[in-house]
Amino acid sequence: MDNRQQYVDPDLGFYARRALTISHGRGARLWDADGKMYIDCIAGMGVAALGHGHVVVAEAIARQAEKMITCSNFFSHEPGTLLMEKLIEISPPGLERVFFCNSGAEAMEAAIKLARLSTGRTELIAAEGAFHGRTLGALSATHREKYRIPFMPLVPGFTHVPFNDIAALEESVTENTAGIMLEVVQGEGGIHPADLQYLQKVRALCDKRGIILIFDEVQSGFCRTGRWFACDHYDVAPDILAVAKAMAGGLPMGAVICSDKVQAEPGLHGTTFGGNPLCAAAGVAAIRIMEDQHLCKRAADLGDWFVAELKKLNLPSIVEIRHMGLMIGIELDLPVGEIIIRFQDKGVLIFGAGERVLRLLPPLIIEKDELKLVLKTFKAVLSTIK
Ligand SMILES: Cc1ncc(COP(=O)(O)O)c(C=O)c1O
Repeated sequence: MDNRQQYVDPDLGFYARRALTISHGRGARLWDADGKMYIDCIAGMGVAALGHGHVVVAEAIARQAEKMITCSNFFSHEPGTLLMEKLIEISPPGLERVFFCNSGAEAMEAAIKLARLSTGRTELIAAEGAFHGRTLGALSATHREKYRIPFMPLVPGFTHVPFNDIAALEESVTENTAGIMLEVVQGEGGIHPADLQYLQKVRALCDKRGIILIFDEVQSGFCRTGRWFACDHYDVAPDILAVAKAMAGGLPMGAVICSDKVQAEPGLHGTTFGGNPLCAAAGVAAIRIMEDQHLCKRAADLGDWFVAELKKLNLPSIVEIRHMGLMIGIELDLPVGEIIIRFQDKGVLIFGAGERVLRLLPPLIIEKDELKLVLKTFKAVLSTIK
């Protein structure tokens, strides 16, 4: 680059980028372009559950790349079929058919269309605090005004009700309600798990009124919370389970896994890239690793241990710690923006979930010693704040 000119970042500007260029990673560690090491508790926003540079995932991708990267959805192929079978095996009972796509938002788009198609109704109910993605359908289900208002008018037919409030939900149901969509643990909204009774009552309400129940486990799926899916903690199964993020070892992939209440018809929905052999092969490898290395149990144990240790530090600016496995939210009594940068300066990458919540989604393979460094950083940063 000509150093006489001021560098202008060619990125369009939708991201408030931090002044840091990441070069490469290994396990739960990342290095910047100057060789400084960071403990990665963002993990590609929950994508890198297996960490960075996983040799088995890399080999699966390389093998499949030589064999066949792409294949039109007119045909089935081995990695795609294997992945569908695996997803059905690990999903709650009653979920028996799969549609692949390329992201979390696309999984929610499919869920919205399937709810309308399967019921002949048009309305969808989502929760206050919900985040379901940025495409127009998913954005209509997302709650935060900051994300929604610049893009009005959104898709009609969406309402939002307070999370964990069954009376409010029952009141908002009409004869025209096609679907109710919930994150079992609200992620972007601040790491808020659903109440057990609430989820059970939502399931009963959907059964009674013929409504499609959609769980958005894009962030909470694939061992993150200590079980395959967060809804496994509750023994409540949806009609549509939407997943993405950690599913394909870091490659972009999403899916909806559906019950027999969900109807599809050839030609009414589709995607060119969705379910391509390359991502599917990575997905098969990733889920196998999660199984072989017992990553659900590891996430549960490490999450409990980390939160217990963090509580012991008695840091005054912490208002509440909420977690399920390694999906961790730490609510502070002050905005988190500047604090996140202090963590980064000390070699720990974390991010926010709303104004006052620090969010940690570390790789599930993170070592205890690495988490000890994170704890040390909490002590260093939060003891000196104010
Ligand atoms: C719960 C939830 N749903 C949907 C999405 C959207 O996923 P994507 O960014 O892959 O479109 C996200 C992304 O963070 C999410 O956390």
